Amino acid sequence: MVRMGTMMEFKWDAREQRTVTELFSAGEEPDIQELLRGDWKNPFLIIDTSVRRLWDGRLQPAMLSASGVYVMEADEVLKNTFTLAQIWESMSSAGITRDIPVVVVGGGIVCDIGALAASTYLRGLKLMLVPTTLLCMVDACLGGKTGVNMAGAKNQVGTFAPADRIAILPSFLETLPEREFRSGMAEVIKTALIGDREIKELILDQGDVRDSGERLLKMVGKCLLVKGSIVEKDLREEGGRMVLNLGHTVGHALESASGFELSHGEAVGLGMIAEAGIAVAMGGNSDIPDEVRRLLKTVGLPIGLNGGIKKHEFESLLNRDKKTRRDGRVWALPFDWCDCRLVQLSREEEDRVLPGVLSLLKA
Ligand SMILES: NC(=O)c1ccc[n+]([C@@H]2O[C@H](COP(=O)([O-])OP(=O)(O)OC[C@H]3O[C@@H](n4cnc5c(N)ncnc54)[C@H](O)[C@@H]3O)[C@@H](O)[C@H]2O)c1
Repeated sequence: MVRMGTMMEFKWDAREQRTVTELFSAGEEPDIQELLRGDWKNPFLIIDTSVRRLWDGRLQPAMLSASGVYVMEADEVLKNTFTLAQIWESMSSAGITRDIPVVVVGGGIVCDIGALAASTYLRGLKLMLVPTTLLCMVDACLGGKTGVNMAGAKNQVGTFAPADRIAILPSFLETLPEREFRSGMAEVIKTALIGDREIKELILDQGDVRDSGERLLKMVGKCLLVKGSIVEKDLREEGGRMVLNLGHTVGHALESASGFELSHGEAVGLGMIAEAGIAVAMGGNSDIPDEVRRLLKTVGLPIGLNGGIKKHEFESLLNRDKKTRRDGRVWALPFDWCDCRLVQLSREEEDRVLPGVLSLLKA
């Protein structure tokens, strides 16, 4: 059963493992200590350095009663097997046994590596995630993908291991830098396009969504319901879950082409415009690229690239995408609101549509 507002429950695979997701409204948020009762007492804590610094008073009691604490900087360069081994070592020094749970407090980087450590140490410990970025609240915390980067490739090593519990305390967003918040909004727009048009109305409603606690909470809840309904059916990304890659095929190429000057969210936003353009070329709703642009503009994300991007550079970056096969690529294309399709395009079809799509990205 799924209930909005307070608690949602998602079920995974034949073992009926569940993720209980609690979404708290302002004024109802528990102390971290209150979350750590019963099975969650004296956990091993993994915390983002910035969050630990900014929310010291809030986290201190939990840290004092923890069985062990590992504090890490949320840097993509540190999301690697070396840091993973350090977390394992720290768990070992703290004498962690199979009955001690792991609680991770941080954004997608710390949650991804913390969840991987939890799913592998002693062959798996109970896991609670407390996401502190918008991206992690609406996307990364749910669905069980854990991972670290290796040999220059993102999330090359990982597991599918859904958290047992997710506690979303939106007040953590008060300290989140604006650019990080906007990055999360790109995933919100993606989720709206894939599965819930009402999220669009919440974004376009008057005033900044960040300033309205109730609207923000509703938006986060709706995103989780969309993502949950997709990943519940395809935890291991063998099919339907791939629609969540919307915006990311072009987005990853643009992120690399900019030398990572574009943030992930900025690149995914532009990727959605481009991929909506490909959908139009394949017969999709021709209003979608402009509607995506309007949403991106509303939340302060870029809608074009200064100078654009050259076709040959773009193609060589696309060819590095993990989804590339000899006979073409599978694209997640938004044919309309709530009608995102997985479409295999041959090389010839890509050659036909890409030039038009690239012109959509010019600022
Ligand atoms: N597992 C999944 O399904 C999934 C999905 C999407 C993305 N990801 C991963 O998520 C990562 C990106 O995560 P992210 O966007 O959450 O960013 P992040 O974890 O890199 O955090 C961004 C920045 O915000 C800081 N921060 C975090 N919470 C804060 C707070 N409350 N106040 C102030 N600063 C705060 C961090 O220290 C960091 O500097 C990538 O590594 C990506 O691969 C995973």
